[in-house]
Amino acid sequence: MQLIKNEIKKRDHAIKNICCIGAGYVGGPTMAVIADKCPHINITVVDVNKDRIDFWNHPDVNNIPVFEPGLSNIISRVRGVNLHFSTEVNDEISKADMVFLCVNTPTKTKGLGAGKASDLKWIEACARQVAKSAVGHTIVVEKSTLPVRTAKTIQTILESSQPFNSESNGNKTFSVLSNPEFLAEGTAIKDLESPDRVLIGGEDNQAINSLSDIYSNWVPDSKIIKTNLWSSELSKLSANAFLAQRISSINSIAAFCEATGGDVREVAKAIGSDNRIGSKFLQAGPGFGGSCFKKDILNLTYLSEYFGLKEVANYWESVIALNEWQKQRIARKVVDNLFGTISGKSIAILGFSFKANTNDTRESPSIDIAKKLLEEGANLFIHDPKVEKNQIEKDLNIPEFKHSDYDENILRANNEEGSWMYKKSIKDALYNVDAAIILTEWNDYYNIKWDELSLNMRRPAWVFDTRSVVKPDEIKKAGLNLWRLGD
Ligand code: UDX
Ligand code: ADP
Repeated sequence: MQLIKNEIKKRDHAIKNICCIGAGYVGGPTMAVIADKCPHINITVVDVNKDRIDFWNHPDVNNIPVFEPGLSNIISRVRGVNLHFSTEVNDEISKADMVFLCVNTPTKTKGLGAGKASDLKWIEACARQVAKSAVGHTIVVEKSTLPVRTAKTIQTILESSQPFNSESNGNKTFSVLSNPEFLAEGTAIKDLESPDRVLIGGEDNQAINSLSDIYSNWVPDSKIIKTNLWSSELSKLSANAFLAQRISSINSIAAFCEATGGDVREVAKAIGSDNRIGSKFLQAGPGFGGSCFKKDILNLTYLSEYFGLKEVANYWESVIALNEWQKQRIARKVVDNLFGTISGKSIAILGFSFKANTNDTRESPSIDIAKKLLEEGANLFIHDPKVEKNQIEKDLNIPEFKHSDYDENILRANNEEGSWMYKKSIKDALYNVDAAIILTEWNDYYNIKWDELSLNMRRPAWVFDTRSVVKPDEIKKAGLNLWRLGD
């Protein structure tokens, strides 16, 4: 849509300069792949967080702030060639023909809609920055997951700021597009390189074509879907809600299997072989995490309530309620099996990221489950191949138990509140523990030599497998008790 009528700059169809605002889990990998596939486009990813940008520019590509299989290889190919990372937000906006908004949109923690609505303050700040610094015609692409009709807000800000903007040279024009990102963490590069579909919503055909021409460099045209703005925004929320709903559905069946003697893996296989249902996203687990599912459903329920659709809101809310219940249920199973008390007992937590192959812990089920076990007085030994100790400390909001204070007897005897320690190796995490809980399906956990490591566990020892990672025979052979989700 052309917002400012007196456009004097001739609009050039082909994009040469892109600025991406937000160097996070979406902006970083997405721009890396576009840069790799489109050597003729110059891309700068900007962020207000200087530390984050410094890490993206770290000479050792293994130190970039987002861990994604395949990402550091791409970064080493394109960084400094046609992909750059910078904190010069305004400067880079002014040079760009196209600006991607990839900033965070978490759930509001206070004020109207707290706990449900998305906090749009970052997206609004971005829109204002673009309005101020853009030069000539700029296509603004909304990539963060946003509530339906946010594009309208962005348009309004871009449109209305101009006449009052003293730096305006009077010839700024904008087109706003919605281009939701469907990548999943851990498989981001694969998802970006061969997406199921690319969705572009908008009203300005020329802008839509400019964006679809970028994707056409590697995505077949048949996979590029063009819709209106609102359908595009709603599709992203709905896709995430549907995926989350499948997980709550299978997790509810897992609980049912435990009560009745079924095996959720067998049930998932049986129902997943129905073509209409399909086999993906039917893996029972400790509950869904990640930055999107809960936030997007909360958003959907907030909007449903706003539009007076109470039953719709209740329906989607139950998907979250089951997810919360699942985490509490797992913590309770651990307590019940360890003779009804875990106070002063040592428990290994294997996996802290919300899923394998990412260092992201946002909404990770491990956080809630660990907090519950700490509340019960357990001493946790936490291992994760990619999550750093500082991140765990932030998430649990309790300082790590100091290694110098470590005394097995003190730890076991004196535990009103529980404690946690970070362990670098699986072997160290399992040393002298009463139980191990597998919460993330990292490859390393499939290969644990239980016959060897179990010798150092305190008997009777338990393994709680929430991700169907272990082979039950091996656990039994090692003389350990096993609780498997949905078994
Ligand atoms: C999700 C969507 O998949 C993606 O399209 C969107 O762009 C962002 O949100 P992401 O959160 O990165 O991606 O990961 P996803 O693979 O969807 O997993 C989300 C959560 O569901 C994880 O905690 C995962 O462990 C859990 N999950 C997934 C299950 O418990 N069982 C499954 O069968 C699949
Ligand atoms: P996502 O998973 O959606 O990528 P992240 O939180 O990983 O979310 O990344 C979003 C990034 O956006 C953060 O690094 C944050 O500093 C950045 N950001 C937020 N607002 C602005 C802004 N107005 N200008 C520049 N960067 C911003």
